[in-house]
Amino acid sequence: MNNSPLSFLEIINLSTEFLQKKGVPNPKCDVEWIVSFITNKKRVELYLEFENPVELQYQNKIREFVIERGKRVPLQHILGKISFGSVELSCDKRALIPRPETEYLTELINERIGSKFSGKILDLGTGSGAILITLCKNNKLATGIGLDKSSDAIELARENASLNKLENVRFENFDWTQQKLENQYDLIVSNPPYLTIEEWKNAEDEVKFFDPKIALVSTDGTSDLCKIIALAESNLSKGGMLALETGLGQKTVLLPILESKFPKIEVIKDFTNRERFIIARKD
Ligand SMILES: C[S@@+](CC[C@H](N)C(=O)[O-])C[C@H]1O[C@@H](n2cnc3c(N)ncnc32)[C@H](O)[C@@H]1O
Repeated sequence: MNNSPLSFLEIINLSTEFLQKKGVPNPKCDVEWIVSFITNKKRVELYLEFENPVELQYQNKIREFVIERGKRVPLQHILGKISFGSVELSCDKRALIPRPETEYLTELINERIGSKFSGKILDLGTGSGAILITLCKNNKLATGIGLDKSSDAIELARENASLNKLENVRFENFDWTQQKLENQYDLIVSNPPYLTIEEWKNAEDEVKFFDPKIALVSTDGTSDLCKIIALAESNLSKGGMLALETGLGQKTVLLPILESKFPKIEVIKDFTNRERFIIARKD
């Protein structure tokens, strides 16, 4: 890009070409998000005025963001925020970028608990607080606690709770490999680390270099999930629900353990038809 005013279409095309050369997946889509964010226009509006020049101050900012994206910095870190369910969250390297499949997990939970749930919710490995904040925003009578080993994540989750003006949630440090839970909960939800080290090594640069490794990698893929199932067995109230996001093919390890502890179990597929969620209920 040079310094003369370029049109929306020229900026989109040049930036897309630049990101393509840098190996960015879905470059055009990312460019559209960047241009739309900086110029404060909806993505579809960019094409309604594709021949119009983009103001130079915007053009410079777009260039800055596109260069960052070319270094494989995740789009969500560049924009600094993300929409997740009904909430908006700050997003940076302090915690995992919340994923669409996790958004789907919160939908599955909401469908089951409704909007008048007044129980106690525990989110184990809360990260940015995405799951808990969404659930507690939809259920103002519920009380939520989000626990995480990472102090950086707890700091971001607290900021996200303030951003969403929530007073029914709190976040604390906790390590499930070292500590026991003291209270009973009506709903325990967790999207814990579940990748093997090999899976993590094969991930995109955005994941490997910008998401915290502690958020992703678990010994054998399933050791953290097993810890969480054990905690849920002792700390889920009568009739309580455990909702888990899991990795591919982990059902074979997890189901026999869950079946020995919980009478009712659902295995649910993600948008790509792969079994990724388990919802178990206590008697
Ligand atoms: C996959 S991330 C999920 C973050 C968030 N819940 C989400 O869905 O976007 C897993 C989280 O578990 C946390 N974690 C990893 N090991 C932990 C442990 N032993 N005790 C507590 N939290 C842990 C990580 O810091 C990370 O925030």
